[in-house]
Amino acid sequence: MNKHVYRKIKGFRDIFGDEIYYWHIVEDNFKEIFNVYGYEEVKLPILERLEVFRKGLGDTSDIVDKEMFSFIDRDSQPVVLRPEGTASVVRFYIENNIFQENKIDRFYYYGPMFRRENPQKGRFRQFYQVGVEALGSASPILDSEVIKLSSEIFKSFNVNLNIQLEINSIGCQTCRQSYVSVLLEYLKSKSVHLCDNCNKKIDSNPLRVFDCKNELCKLTMQSAPEISSFLCKDCKNHFLEVKENLNKFNVEFVVNPKLVRGLDYYMRTAFEIVTDYFGATLAVGAGGRYDGLVKNLGGPDIPGIGFAIGVDRLVAVLKELKDVGKDIRFFVVYQNNSLMDFAIRLLNELRENHIKAFADYTGKGLKSQLRMANKYLADYALILGEEELNGNYITIKNMKDGQQKRLNRNDIVVAIKSKFIDGGVKCFQ
Ligand code: HAM
Repeated sequence: MNKHVYRKIKGFRDIFGDEIYYWHIVEDNFKEIFNVYGYEEVKLPILERLEVFRKGLGDTSDIVDKEMFSFIDRDSQPVVLRPEGTASVVRFYIENNIFQENKIDRFYYYGPMFRRENPQKGRFRQFYQVGVEALGSASPILDSEVIKLSSEIFKSFNVNLNIQLEINSIGCQTCRQSYVSVLLEYLKSKSVHLCDNCNKKIDSNPLRVFDCKNELCKLTMQSAPEISSFLCKDCKNHFLEVKENLNKFNVEFVVNPKLVRGLDYYMRTAFEIVTDYFGATLAVGAGGRYDGLVKNLGGPDIPGIGFAIGVDRLVAVLKELKDVGKDIRFFVVYQNNSLMDFAIRLLNELRENHIKAFADYTGKGLKSQLRMANKYLADYALILGEEELNGNYITIKNMKDGQQKRLNRNDIVVAIKSKFIDGGVKCFQ
């Protein structure tokens, strides 16, 4: 390749071609589902003040510690490309004074997030999240609603994605304190069996040792004490109710007592939707409750819960499992230049009626227009010649098998819609 061609930055990618159909399907589906559940979109800035995430996610979280794209702006402000959406939503919620007594505010957001992780299968430095945040209630029913909502999105593609919903309770500040001191003792006694990275985390963020992918660390953590035996009465009851409500909402889940989340703001309910598709167990979505976050970021003491789905990962799994029909395309072909006017009118009529159509504007011969139809991946060519003009019809040619038919020019739109694109091509069948 020419050495002067500019290349994209490591961990960043162009998303195009057939893959875009999957993105559109995911986008259409989540918009419809969020609407039903009463979640409203908020479009948030991509650049935020560094402090929003430092304070929100905690200095010892991997994201803040080593993964943020941060820089000092020209006015000496430390800023970051947002690594996630929850802290941004909470900043927005406080700044715009949204809180109202006895009301749950439900938001969703969609867009790119940035983390300077080591790129690998399913892991990028720019990736897309669609997320929801529900603020204003500590009720366990809201936890179940939010988890149900996440599962509805995965169900909406009518395909078995081979994913598993795992839930856990990581307790509140009080019960976690007694748990962490017991966990610390265990980790210190096993430090020789833990990798360097985990040893570093023992003092700064001991719960994160559960997330290490190193085989020896995983084995060591199998017999580590679990938070469930340390939950206080309120946290225990809360978790019990979440599980009961999930059953009422028809949500299938497993309790994973080793599930912890890597961000400081979580408390009580934590959940992940995991898949083995990427060669290792990776989460396609994750979330949890964060009752102290609004207060921590300077707002009133308002509880909240939410989740985010990694759209790049979801699309990768979908692509593997299901063929998605592309839109049926038509290519208008005219026999000679004197028919170009008629061709353009036909092209215009098709498009005005939302039929995907192309034509050649360069005045090439019939054969070369048909070759062009193939380049545009047209399913059908609509041929317009002198005979067609005089007989007031159009010849439609199937580009795959070459079969031809005549369609009356006057009701061509109705004929195409009912006979050639009916049955829906934009959705999974
Ligand atoms: P998270 O677990 O950091 O949570 O990310 C959520 C999802 O984003 C992951 O499950 C994964 O699918 C996707 N994801 C994360 N990092 C990458 C990456 N480098 N490449 C591709 N996909 C990635 C949060 O961000 C929380 N804000 C979720 C939340 C919302 N909790 C409460 N409300």
